Amino acid sequence: MALLCALFEGLDRLAPGSDAATKRALGLIDDLPSRPAVADIGCGAGAASLILAEATGGTVAAVDIHTPFLQRLAARAAARGLGGQVHAVAADMARPPFPDRAFDLIWSEGALYSIGFEAGLGVLRRLARPGGWIAVSELTWLTDEPPTEAERFMAGEYPAMTTVPRNLEIVRAAGFAPAGHFTLPGTAWTDDYYGPVRERLVAFRADHPNDADAAAVADAMQAEADLYDRYGESYGYLFVVARAA
Ligand SMILES: C[S@@+](CC[C@H](N)C(=O)[O-])C[C@H]1O[C@@H](n2cnc3c(N)ncnc32)[C@H](O)[C@@H]1O
Repeated sequence: MALLCALFEGLDRLAPGSDAATKRALGLIDDLPSRPAVADIGCGAGAASLILAEATGGTVAAVDIHTPFLQRLAARAAARGLGGQVHAVAADMARPPFPDRAFDLIWSEGALYSIGFEAGLGVLRRLARPGGWIAVSELTWLTDEPPTEAERFMAGEYPAMTTVPRNLEIVRAAGFAPAGHFTLPGTAWTDDYYGPVRERLVAFRADHPNDADAAAVADAMQAEADLYDRYGESYGYLFVVARAA
């Protein structure tokens, strides 16, 4: 885990996604209060948190378990004049330190898988006020018949991964009414995420010579990026915007 975090050091985006996709999801939400209480769960270095603070004018509780990511987020927020709006919270998303129904909007891009999509949605349901909104992205099969190599890879990485219809059912079963959904475009993987990751891999390998564990971490990330080049049409990130029933 420490090596994986070292690999991500200096990156602003720690999962596939893009500013445009975050704004597109925000555009599916129509009636937030003027200064909403927002949470970004598994915020990483704040790829979405900063956009949410700027676009909503509200406060953003940016939650992550890994403190170095939060330090980067706090520095980025301060540099953009958002230090008064974005509050870094070091916590486990399974037990976030907030009262029930505390938030008007809860965001989570590429992170709920850490505790499982269903369990993560259960946490969000507790935190959302009645009529409050969530926007979540989840790694999802885009076909009922994935290519064998991709299926084998994901069976090791994320065996719970399922299809768009099933994930929408999971959102409904968790107590939310989907208001809209879309899948991330390929560029949100190749340009916004794997591009910077591939650059970082070069420096990471140079920083960890003769380190078998570091090489294994780098090789796994490389394999993941290469898999997307070959089979990216069969899987993607489903972005769902939904309202607490
Ligand atoms: C794939 S990254 C995505 C980060 C960010 N949302 C983004 O799009 O750049 C997943 C994030 O979830 C965080 N995370 C993993 N398990 C967690 C947990 N149990 N509680 C809180 N954060 C967690 C990781 O530290 C990491 O920052």
